[in-house]
Amino acid sequence: MPAISVDATTFALFGALGDLALRKLFPALYQLDRAGLLHGGTKLLALSRDAGDPQTHMATIEQAIRRYVPDADIDESVMARFLARMQYLTIDFRRREDFAPLVQMVAPEMPLIAYFATPASVYGAICENLAHAGLAEQTRVVLEKPIGHDLASSRVVNDAVAEFFPESRIYRIDHYLGKETVQNLIALRFANSLFETQWNQHHISHVEITVAETVGIEGRWGYFDQAGQLRDMIQNHLLQLLCLIAMDPPSDLTADSIRDEKVKVLKALAPITPEMLSQRVVRGQYASGSVNGKTVPGYLEEENSNAESSTETFVALRADICNWRWSGVPFYLRTGKRMAQKVSQIVIHFKEPPFYIFAPEQRSLISNRLIIRLQPDEGIALQVMTKEQGLDKGMHLRSGPLQLNFSETYKRSRIPDAYERLLLEVMQGNQNLFVRKDEIEYAWKWCDQLIDGWSRLGDTPKLYPAGSWGPVASIALITRDGRSWYGDL
Ligand code: BG6
Repeated sequence: MPAISVDATTFALFGALGDLALRKLFPALYQLDRAGLLHGGTKLLALSRDAGDPQTHMATIEQAIRRYVPDADIDESVMARFLARMQYLTIDFRRREDFAPLVQMVAPEMPLIAYFATPASVYGAICENLAHAGLAEQTRVVLEKPIGHDLASSRVVNDAVAEFFPESRIYRIDHYLGKETVQNLIALRFANSLFETQWNQHHISHVEITVAETVGIEGRWGYFDQAGQLRDMIQNHLLQLLCLIAMDPPSDLTADSIRDEKVKVLKALAPITPEMLSQRVVRGQYASGSVNGKTVPGYLEEENSNAESSTETFVALRADICNWRWSGVPFYLRTGKRMAQKVSQIVIHFKEPPFYIFAPEQRSLISNRLIIRLQPDEGIALQVMTKEQGLDKGMHLRSGPLQLNFSETYKRSRIPDAYERLLLEVMQGNQNLFVRKDEIEYAWKWCDQLIDGWSRLGDTPKLYPAGSWGPVASIALITRDGRSWYGDL
C-alpha cells in the first residue's frame, strides 16, 4: 500500500486529445492509478473541442496509454478501472453554455482540478467560464507552459487567470521541477552539510548546466519557430535549475519559502547588454547532419518549415549572479536540439587547492567536480583526486568518481516520470514544485533583454551540424575564460 493518502478529486483535462495529454498526462495518471495513488472516488474528465463519438475519443486515449506506458506496466485490471473513471465531453472552451454539462459531471463536494493543456490564449476564457458556472471555489487550475512569449504577454495571461483564482490555487507547470533528480537538488544541498559549507564563491570556480537533446522539432515546427530555444528551454527549465543550485537555504520546505529564495536569485542575475551579447551568448541553428548514426535534415529542411527562419535551436550563455555567495562564479548554460547526445547534467567545478605540492604537469588535473546527472542514468558523482595504485607509480594523481546511481543504489526499477509527481502534488494541494507568478516574470524580464539585444543587433544564429555539441562559438564562449565544457566527446 502507498505510504501517502490522496483525497478524491475530479480531474478535468482541457485539451484531452492534444499531444501533451496523450503522450504524457494520461500515461502519468494511469501510472498513479497503478501505484494505488488515485483515490477510489477520483473521476477523470477528458475535455476537448473535438466533436464526434465519445467512445472513439476514449479509444484514442486508451491507445495512447498502451503506446506510451511500457508493456510491462500495463495491467488489464488497472486499465479497466482507469477507463471506468473517465468521461469524455466535447466543449468549446470559449462558450459559456458549453460549461453547463460539465457542472453536471463535477462532484460538488470534491476539489476540481482543471488542467489546461491548451494554448495559453484560452486560459482566461476557461477561468471565466468555470467561475460563471459556479465552479471556481472548489477549483485548482494547472497552467502549462509557455505562459506568454515575453514579460508583457505573460502578464496578460497571468492577470486573466488571477481575475478568477487566487495565487494559492494556481499551479504553473515546469515539468523539470517534477523530475526526481531535480527534487534531489534540495536534498543534496540542504541535507548534507558537507556541500553547503562549500557552496559559494570561496570554493566553487564555476557551474555548468547542460540540457542537450538529440531530437529535432518533431512536427512542432509551427510552435517552436515562434518560440526558439531561449524561450522554450532557458526561460523556464534551465533558469529553474540555476535557481535551485544558486538559492540560499530556505527557512523551511513550504512553497513560498522556496520560491522566495528562487526569486532572489532571478533578481540578482546580471543584465547582459547588447554590447556584451557577442561575448556572453551564442545562438545556434542545426544544419543537416547525423544523429546516432542516422542522417537527419537541418532545421530549415524540416516538415512545414520556412526556409528563411532565423529561430535558434541552440543557446549557450554565461550568466553571472550579483550577490555575496556567487560573485565571480560564472554559470554556463547550454541547451540545444539535435545535439550529439541526450544528456541533462549540472557540473559544479570546485576551485583548486590553495597551495600546490604535486608535480607541476599534474596541476590541470586537480579540482573536484560534482556531477549531477538529471537524465539519463540519474545519479550523482563526486570526482575526487587519489593516488594511482602501484609500486612504480610514485605520487601520480588521478581523478576518480564516488558514484551514486539512483536506480542501482535504491533498487527501484522505475524512476517515475515528472508528470506523475506533479499531478500527485496538485491532487495533494502542494505548490512546492510549481512556479509562482513573480518567478515567471523575473525570468521573462532577463530573457527579454537578450531577445531585444538580438533583434537590435540583427543577430542571426550560427549553424551547427546535427549530431554535434553546437556552434564552435559556444566552445569559444567558455574557453575564453580558460575552461571547457565537461564531458564533450
Ligand atoms: C519541453 C520543451 O518543455 O521540454 C521541449 O518544450 C523539450 O522542446 C522538452 O524537448 C524536454 O523535456 P525532457 O523532459 O525530455 O528533457
